[in-house]
Amino acid sequence: MLELSDHFQTEAPTTKAPPTFDVTRLTVEFPAITGTPRVAIRNLDLRIERGEIFGLVGESGAGKTTLARSLLRLPPEPGRIASGELVFEGKNLMPLPEVEMQRMRGRDISMIVPNPRSELNPLLTVGEQIANVARVHLKVPKRDAHRLALDILRAVQIPDPGRRMQAFPHEMSGGMAQRIVIAIALICSPKFIVSDDATSGLDVTVQAQILQLLRRLAQDRGSSMLFITRDIGITAHFCDRVAVIYNGEIMELAAREDFFFRPAHPYTIMLMAAFSYNQRLRQMWARPEPLPGATSEPTACPYVARCPLAQPRCRSDRPALHELASGHFVRCHFPVSR
Ligand SMILES: Nc1ncnc2c1ncn2[C@@H]1O[C@H](COP(=O)(O)OP(=O)(O)O)[C@@H](O)[C@H]1O
Ligand SMILES: [Mg+2]
Repeated sequence: MLELSDHFQTEAPTTKAPPTFDVTRLTVEFPAITGTPRVAIRNLDLRIERGEIFGLVGESGAGKTTLARSLLRLPPEPGRIASGELVFEGKNLMPLPEVEMQRMRGRDISMIVPNPRSELNPLLTVGEQIANVARVHLKVPKRDAHRLALDILRAVQIPDPGRRMQAFPHEMSGGMAQRIVIAIALICSPKFIVSDDATSGLDVTVQAQILQLLRRLAQDRGSSMLFITRDIGITAHFCDRVAVIYNGEIMELAAREDFFFRPAHPYTIMLMAAFSYNQRLRQMWARPEPLPGATSEPTACPYVARCPLAQPRCRSDRPALHELASGHFVRCHFPVSR
């Protein structure tokens, strides 16, 4: 059986450009007042190709935000990257001085989060805020920054952008404010965008419009994206590949078609059933949350306490992420057959 890291190392050497992000054996911990630290991300390998939209799905507390912010070397306080490598566009981020990371954030890598209002400065017009980002990161004069701001407002389909430049955040709807946040994230044409649950607060129609827009803008600008959500259904329309994260570990990773037509991990199937309208399917697969720490046994499968298909081996032997079929990885001793 191939391990994920083996697979990546044994690929034929090519002259093509490096992936946008290459994460190796990343571990992120939160210190505990007593005892050993809580591991939020465990030995995680992840590679995001150029131009790809990579979906990351998981329940609340799975580690999605911790992973996203760790890629920017900013894990949520008081978390810390305990080990691992982060390589962005062929450049190792771990040894870089913090000032250089600051320059990259917002320019080469940008992050879109929910609650656009808390992201925006209530005292500045949206035009000033967008233009400021361009001035700081792209070092363009005021007039050019203003023009770039106008262009990006058009790109995110803000009606009457000239007038909207003068508006303050509180004068905008949630959907409009989210478009402004996206405009700020995109103005420098970053190579990599992280969207962390960014559209979950919006109503379904607005959410669909914004996702479509985000996808098109990323594609037009050749940006890659890590798209994080709790809603597994959204990834079916939006992402090229999808991974499921549970307790800080990837449980399944596959191209969209394999993921949705041939899901192999019982947990993935449970997540899909939870979003299904079929009540019997939901009842068959839904399992209550385990007690905190119930799945942290280092020798057991992290999902064993909730898994309807668990066997004795799942309690004594922690499964590795292995390749079930080309590009389809699963962390399970008894994957559901393809
Ligand atoms: N600020 C924090 N302090 C302590 N532990 C945290 C903090 N943020 C996250 N964690 C831990 O990391 C785990 C993952 O959290 P998070 O990355 O926010 O998950 P998600 O974004 O998937 O909901 C949590 O279950 C918790 O144990
Ligand atoms: Mg989160």
